[in-house]
Formats: sequence, structure tokens, C-alpha cells
Amino acid sequence: MRMRAAIFDGPGHDLVLTDIDIQDPKHDEVRVRITAAGICHSDYRVLAGEWGATTPLVLGHEGAGIVESVGAGVHSLRPGDTVALSWTPSCNRCRYCVTGRPQLCRSAVANAYRNVLPDGTTRLSRDGEDVYSYLSVGSFAEYVVVPESGAIRIDPGIDPAVAAIVGCAVTTGVGAAINTRPVRVGESVLVIGAGGVGLSVIMGAALQSPGRLIAVDIADSKLQLAKSFGATDTIDATAGDVVEAVRELTGGEGVDLAFEASGRAAGVEQAYASLAAGGTAVVVGQVATGERISIDPMAMSGRELTLTGSNYGSARPAVDFGRILDLYRRGLLPLDRLVTGRIRLPELTDAFRTMGRSATEGRWVVEFP
Ligand SMILES: NC(=O)c1ccc[n+]([C@@H]2O[C@H](COP(=O)([O-])OP(=O)(O)OC[C@H]3O[C@@H](n4cnc5c(N)ncnc54)[C@H](O)[C@@H]3O)[C@@H](O)[C@H]2O)c1
Ligand SMILES: [Zn+2]
Ligand SMILES: [Zn+2]
Repeated sequence: MRMRAAIFDGPGHDLVLTDIDIQDPKHDEVRVRITAAGICHSDYRVLAGEWGATTPLVLGHEGAGIVESVGAGVHSLRPGDTVALSWTPSCNRCRYCVTGRPQLCRSAVANAYRNVLPDGTTRLSRDGEDVYSYLSVGSFAEYVVVPESGAIRIDPGIDPAVAAIVGCAVTTGVGAAINTRPVRVGESVLVIGAGGVGLSVIMGAALQSPGRLIAVDIADSKLQLAKSFGATDTIDATAGDVVEAVRELTGGEGVDLAFEASGRAAGVEQAYASLAAGGTAVVVGQVATGERISIDPMAMSGRELTLTGSNYGSARPAVDFGRILDLYRRGLLPLDRLVTGRIRLPELTDAFRTMGRSATEGRWVVEFP
């Protein structure tokens, strides 16, 4: 089948909008017509050459759509089902899957991160040449072929743009605050970076009635947005020392929990340095390849500090997508307000330029007519 897709040919090239071929779904796979695809900073990392990736590549790993056809052996989905896509298509057999941690699935880590399907191949080609799908998704295209476990059936009444962002930003951010290290009532919380992921951390934290909920960013407009999602205080990172500002806001104590969601090594160090004794810093943002952090192990033991990571909000997409959308329907997670830009596929390159200038507020979503 022919379809329109935005192709990435390597750093320094603009995305090329062109028609490519997509095969029928094979065993345990489904083909989905995309209705909406969100733009995550991880796509930008690849585009900017900050992370290596196989090319040519269809970027995009937040997506929602309608199942168009199913391969042999698919039992949980049928054509016409509305789905949100997951970039950890779990094998449901490895030791991580069977112990309830599909976000660490061996197959997903080995294959999705190489931008191929679980059998190690791709269903996309351009003039006979293989084209890869970012994180086994590749949602900046009219159709995707994904593993059955990478398409989660959802309520068909949900706005596709909202369903799409559940596929990464929302699950990553909300999940970090309710799964990886659940915020407890009254705890003080710091969130560094108020983009799509950081605002989702704030939403997830706000759900659990924290004490102070402090947002840090470099843009005042994003800090205002953070307040509208539940931040009680904001810090402009361009105005001075962030760690000192956190200490001032917390009576010199520091915070119980700090989430890094700006994707910078310096942000991880700030999160860690802002902790009160006994506190936990959660690394959600993902840094450019090669960046390193430096921490003081003496303070770590003496003050019982924890530094931990969070992949995909430690989520079990098959359960958590529905749970999150249920909280949205009940008005407890204002996911629709996170969608601040709606564009079409030809505007994608410009959208990435805006993101590169840190000027994208909330989440921008590509809608397919
Ligand atoms: N752990 C995971 O599973 C996972 C999943 C998705 C995304 N991510 C990562 O999360 C990070 C955020 O992604 P996003 O889509 O929200 O990006 P985004 O571009 O929407 O947001 C990043 C935010 O950081 C802010 N920022 C930039 N410099 C800053 C500074 N010095 N201090 C404070 N804030 C600053 C920007 O203004 C922006 O608001 C990225 O590194 C991305 O790769 C991780
Ligand atoms: Zn993402
Ligand atoms: Zn697995």
C-alpha cells in the first residue's frame, strides 16, 4: 500500500514529505491509520543528531488511530478499533514482562530502540530501500504497522490528539509521579522542565495532593502554564541559581522529591542537589549522548539520598493508558489543555525548529484529516 510519510534522512536534512510503501501486517501485527501524532523532544534529539538512529527513518512515537487490518494470530484487536500506540511493545514473555515491568521488556529494548519490529525487520520501504520506524512506531505517516502489544484499544470518543499524547508525554510524566516514585500527600516536589513531559509530571503529582509543587523552566509562559496545571511556585532558571531558589522556597530544607524533565545533565545535578535529607531525585528527561553527571557519594550516604531513573513512567501501557484516560474523562487530569498546538504534516519541520528554540509550549500534535 502507498502512503504519505515524513522521512528523516539524517541530521542536517529537512524532513521530506513523500509517498512510500507499507506492507500488510504480519503475524501478531496490526496496521493502524493514524489520526493524530504528538511531537516529543526525543524525536527532536534524533533530528538534531544528538542521538544516533538508523535512516531513512519515519520519526514520531506518539500516535493514535484506527486499526485498518490485522495479521494472523491477532486476537485482541480488530479492524475499526480505536487505539493509542505504545513504544514499548512488550513480548509478554521475558522476565521483565512477567514480573510486571513491560517498560523494560527485553524485546522492546532490543528492537524498538533499533527502530525495527520484533522480528528485526521493517514494513516500510521507499523505492525498494528499507525505511525504519522510530521506536517501532513511526507515527509521522498516514499508517503504521506495529506489534499487537504496541496498539492499546481505547474509548473511540476520545479526541485523537489527547489519545496520541498519552502514547509518550503523558504516560512518561504522569507515570513517573504515580508509578516510579509515587508522590505522597504533603510531600514537597520539584519539577525541572515544564514541557510536554514536565507538565505531565506536574499533573500526576498534583493528583496526589503534594505540599509545595515547584516548577522550573527558562520561559515565563511555560511557568504560567505549569501554574495552571497545579504548580504552587515557579522558578525562572535564567534568573539565578535554581538550587538556592529551591532552598529559599522550602525554608532551607530542600524538596522530598525532584523530577528532572528538561533532558539536561545539569538538570539532573540540580534535581539531586535540591533534595532534603531522605529525598529522591527521578531522572525522566533523557540527555544528549555522552553527557555525564557528577554527584557527591558522601552526601548520598550521609543524607540517605536516592537517585533513580524512569522509563516510560514505569507504565504498563495495556493497563495505564485506560487508567489515565479515565482520570482525564473524570476531569482529574486536564490532558486536553496540554495540547497547545495542532498542525498538519507539512508543518512538521517548522514545528521542530520551534521546539529547538525551546519555544514549544505544552504538546504540539500533528492531525491527519
Ligand atoms: N524517560 C522517558 O521514558 C522519556 C520519554 C519521553 C521523553 N523523555 C525526555 O524527556 C525530556 C523532555 O521531553 P519533552 O517532550 O517534554 O520536551 P519539551 O521540549 O517539550 O520540554 C523541555 C522543557 O525544558 C525546558 N528547559 C530547557 N532548558 C532548561 C533549563 N536550563 N532549565 C529548566 N528548563 C529548561 C524547555 O523550556 C522546555 O519547556 C526530553 O529529554 C525527552 O527526551 C523521556
Ligand atoms: Zn517521547
Ligand atoms: Zn518482554
